[in-house]
Amino acid sequence: MTTPITLAHGVSLRLVEPGDGEALATALALNAEHLAPWDPVREPDHTTPVRQEAFVAEMRAQWSTNSAAAFVLVAGAEIIGQATVSHIVRGPFLSANLGYWLDAGWTGHGLMSAAVGAIADFSRDALGLHRLQAATLVHNGASQRVLERAGFERIGLAPRYLQIAGRWQDHVLFQRLLED
Ligand SMILES: CC(C)(COP(=O)(O)OP(=O)(O)OC[C@H]1O[C@@H](n2cnc3c(N)ncnc32)[C@H](O)[C@@H]1OP(=O)(O)O)[C@@H](O)C(=O)NCCC(=O)NCCS
Repeated sequence: MTTPITLAHGVSLRLVEPGDGEALATALALNAEHLAPWDPVREPDHTTPVRQEAFVAEMRAQWSTNSAAAFVLVAGAEIIGQATVSHIVRGPFLSANLGYWLDAGWTGHGLMSAAVGAIADFSRDALGLHRLQAATLVHNGASQRVLERAGFERIGLAPRYLQIAGRWQDHVLFQRLLED
């Protein structure tokens, strides 16, 4: 993804770049309450520019070794969301995990569905992957709908799969086979 992909009028998707830390920190601070029920408990410095710039540097390093790809959704000078393809495993698996979040003020316009569709294409064409997996909390209807709209299928229930909001919680697992 050398050039940004337009998701909607005024909103685009691109790989994270050095210097994104400050805008990411601003968005995460504004959305702390919106994201808390769906995220692990964060360290106190999670919403600082320094911490977010370190995240960007880590993601760029993993991108340079084909181990991960992190994206931002951008509106003007603002970052309004983020998505990450992580834990890329090659060999006979050719699979990775997908996670994402969007600013509360921008939800409900199909933005993350469009972003996930574009990221799935990118994962097949640029990363050479066969499969993406995502896991949602059982009661995260919006995220499940995003995945269904982007061609993912429900493959099962994983009991106490991730520690979210301070508790080991059951998750619904989804996958998309990228050749389909
Ligand atoms: C999940 C999230 C990324 C969705 O982003 P979005 O851009 O609003 O998603 P879209 O608009 O593309 O699609 C949302 C779909 O879910 C539907 N939806 C919204 N709330 C819902 C709910 N409580 N139950 C079921 N469906 C719901 C919407 O109607 C829409 O479907 P439709 O277009 O068929 O009507 C966003 O809500 C978010 O960041 N949530 C908090 C973080 C999070 O949950 N991250 C994912 C962790 S697995």
